[in-house]
Amino acid sequence: MFKKIVIISCLFSTLALYAQYEEAKELFDDAACMECHNNEDFVVKKNKVSDFKKLCRVVDACRFNNEVEWFDDESLDVSRYLNHKFYKFKEEE
Ligand code: HEC
Repeated sequence: MFKKIVIISCLFSTLALYAQYEEAKELFDDAACMECHNNEDFVVKKNKVSDFKKLCRVVDACRFNNEVEWFDDESLDVSRYLNHKFYKFKEEE
């Protein structure tokens, strides 16, 4: 019984996470971020983005510079998505 609950709740949280990344991907694609960027931009470089907080900050900077109308939580979702896909930092709130 307990095992089943664990399996089911794992499944749901995986699905929720997946949906969140899908949404963030859409936001990211719609905002034309890739007009200036390519995948090689989003790697950990020395003296650049080196943790999750800094990643959130540059995503915000780029969002404001380009007048992308995301809510703060959407911006955070996009940071999470980029982190998941590229940077792989340990995420802290
Ligand atoms: C008009 C061009 C432009 C657009 C559009 C743009 N950016 Fe940027 N972005 C830059 C520049 C310039 C930098 C700084 C590059 C550097 O210092 O290496 C940067 C840096 C970044 C970085 C840090 C890269 C790293 O690891 O060093 C991230 C992440 C990023 N942008 C995300 C985004 C996102 C998300 C969007 C869409 C909302 C976006 N950018 C749209 C120009 C742009």
